[in-house]
Amino acid sequence: MTYDFKIAAADKATLYRDLASALKGLVTGEPDAVANMANAAALIYETLDDVNWVGFYRNVGGELVLGPFQGRAACIRIQFGEGVCGAAAQTRQVQRIKDVHAFPGHIACDSASNSEIVVPLIRDGELLGVLDIDSPKHARFTEEDEAGVVRLSEILSGVL
Ligand code: SME
Repeated sequence: MTYDFKIAAADKATLYRDLASALKGLVTGEPDAVANMANAAALIYETLDDVNWVGFYRNVGGELVLGPFQGRAACIRIQFGEGVCGAAAQTRQVQRIKDVHAFPGHIACDSASNSEIVVPLIRDGELLGVLDIDSPKHARFTEEDEAGVVRLSEILSGVL
């Protein structure tokens, strides 16, 4: 069996629809959270343009701890309220940041990152962790990206 996803859509709505259906196919029926995060990070990283880091921080006893990712080695532990990921964890709100250097307390794991979107992963009122996507491009993530990534996070929350 090969997992050869070539998702190349003309518009973002179609791109995210195809990405969501590929992700669903990959994770459905698999109960292992690490396997699902690993495959999700690989699929998203391969599919989206202009991204340099895609991965997960898990809520481990009220602290964010690095999970499966694609990109350069990253900071391992992030406190709630710290940086963009910590803000998403604390507020449980999507953080879509046009210029990370202007974000108070931003943690620069990879100096190539200029914009970022972080989506909280919530199931039954419990914060499981966050999905973090970084880009070297300023203002890489639009409202359409946000809607698409939120859809991915809903699929993921069910299988983590
Ligand atoms: N930039 C993030 C830290 C995580 S790394 O980018 C992988 C932040 O400020 O939350």
